[in-house]
Amino acid sequence: MRRSLVVGNWKMHGSAASIDTLVTGLQQQLANLPADQTDIAVCPPFVFIPQVISQLEGSAIACGAQNVSDQQEGAYTGEISATMLAELGCQYVIVGHSERRTLMAESDADIAAKFTAVQSQGLTPILCVGESLAQREAGETLSWIEQQIKAVIAVAGIEAMAASVIAYEPIWAIGTGKTASPEQAQEVHAHIRQVLANESQAVAGALQLLYGGSVKADNAAELFGKQDIDGALVGGAALKAADFAAICMAA
Ligand code: G3P
Repeated sequence: MRRSLVVGNWKMHGSAASIDTLVTGLQQQLANLPADQTDIAVCPPFVFIPQVISQLEGSAIACGAQNVSDQQEGAYTGEISATMLAELGCQYVIVGHSERRTLMAESDADIAAKFTAVQSQGLTPILCVGESLAQREAGETLSWIEQQIKAVIAVAGIEAMAASVIAYEPIWAIGTGKTASPEQAQEVHAHIRQVLANESQAVAGALQLLYGGSVKADNAAELFGKQDIDGALVGGAALKAADFAAICMAA
């Protein structure tokens, strides 16, 4: 039986004051959630990570980062390494979010390198994959997702996938209010699990597979009811304590 996992990706939102309020609200709202069933994490912008980790001390909510360098140290102006994130106390790092693939031109090779850099420091990568609307309409969704996952397996190896999380985020559903139907999401999740199972049944069975893209308090339960959907990577709704808490409860 896989544990469920709900991760909030705060993207480039917040100030010290608003994040203080958000984390306080989350701790209040989630105080009664049984910790043995659902893993919860939040991924603030880099500069707020120390503040959030200090605020979360003693709580079951973990902290993650939204990006990382594929290098551990050196003359890489503006970059943040997995070593630094581990020292701060992060547990997760999102890699391959579609906003970075699209806006920052990150390639599958870049993402595979980041994935291994994260794991080398004992952190858990949350590997994001997802198709565009044009790819979905062209019937290329499953082959595209498979290609994105195999690009990481080719570098990291199938066993490394056991210590990772995969998030399926259809690009057309991100921030649009247009959620994939539970059936659409389940179809892709089942395919991802099959791609992994072709190489290792054990890895496929154990890996937490999240859905992301306009997850809200009122659609979460239906998504989580699907066999291969183990939780969510949440954007907009993660910025409101009550909404994010409701999604965690549904998981
Ligand atoms: O990483 C989460 C994300 O891209 C989904 O964003 O706002 O559609 O929940 P949103």
